[in-house]
Amino acid sequence: MKKKVGFVGWRGLVGSVLLERMILKDDIYKFNIKFFTTSQVGHNGPKINNKKFGILENAYDLQKLTEMDIILTCQGSKYTEKVYFNLRKLGWKGFWVDASSHLRVNDNSIIVLDPINYNFIMKSIEGGCKTFVGGNCTVSLMLMALGGLFSKNLIKKIFVSTYQAVSGAGSYYIKNLLLEMGILHKSVKNDLYKNNISILKIENIISSLLKSKKNVGIFNNIPIAGNLIPWIDSDNLDGNSKEEIKGEFETNKILNLNKLKHKIIVDSLCVRVSTFRCHSQSLLIKLNKNMNISEIKDILMNHNKWVKIIQNDKLNTITNLTPAMVSRTLNILVGRIRKSNFGNKYINLFSIGDQLLWGASEPLRRMIKILIKL
Ligand code: HSE
Repeated sequence: MKKKVGFVGWRGLVGSVLLERMILKDDIYKFNIKFFTTSQVGHNGPKINNKKFGILENAYDLQKLTEMDIILTCQGSKYTEKVYFNLRKLGWKGFWVDASSHLRVNDNSIIVLDPINYNFIMKSIEGGCKTFVGGNCTVSLMLMALGGLFSKNLIKKIFVSTYQAVSGAGSYYIKNLLLEMGILHKSVKNDLYKNNISILKIENIISSLLKSKKNVGIFNNIPIAGNLIPWIDSDNLDGNSKEEIKGEFETNKILNLNKLKHKIIVDSLCVRVSTFRCHSQSLLIKLNKNMNISEIKDILMNHNKWVKIIQNDKLNTITNLTPAMVSRTLNILVGRIRKSNFGNKYINLFSIGDQLLWGASEPLRRMIKILIKL
């Protein structure tokens, strides 16, 4: 019999990308899906390929939720906090698959990224684990990029600087980045198209506008167009942002190293930039041994089919190694691979992936596929 999957938060940014992928890959017909809502109970569910998917159920109706074999939620941490524990208290033994971060720190959860930790996922299921959470986007994208080196235990420590797209903050911020761009353009439009323009005059108008925080700055009152913000998520009150803390914890949790002494050290500095949906990362990596670059490239490339190595030269880099080129693909680009001046065990590289695909929805889609086969 087909498994019953309840889907909550399918209209948000991650949820809609996930639904789109499940339709594209025909997953949606491999289980009985029920759509839940926090705000439109009783409304019609989505119509997919001319098939109606019933009426929307109440996402807070615990009784209805307990009828599901699997609950898939992209509704966010607050929803998880409200519903998950009460559901378990009722004795519900189904699988909970969650895009939000709330349960990632929970001892009973596994962070899923099956190209990296398939064996760990399967062992955990055998051991009775019922709670599976998608990882932080930068962490998942980094692990996908470096999968080959991790699987051969070649990494000792990593320093990563991120360049994170506005999609990571939600759909509202994609829209507002465009609005900010429009406001900036409008403020100089008359001068911009004149002959013999003074670029410094134009730049002065833009700079003053960015500093004024009056008309731009729709991004939490801080402009992101023509700007960047070197802080993501809340303050961990130890000099790190919460986003930066996730780097080390989640990397080790995904690799099942958290309880061991030889954890991988990950230091992160996370920055929001004005790209739309792809996160980039610049990595300085200390390997466990001195290795040559062609061997490293082979290991990275052969680990999974999504890694694409970009030749480390100017033309290939500027043409191919950009967020714009990765957008809406599952490719994980890895370029600028070279030895570092720090020493012969150090390398640095640059990687980019789509934050909404491998960074959020794809690990969950694949987890559902694993669970419905059980
Ligand atoms: N925290 C991420 C970001 C979202 O703000 O970009 C993906 O986990």
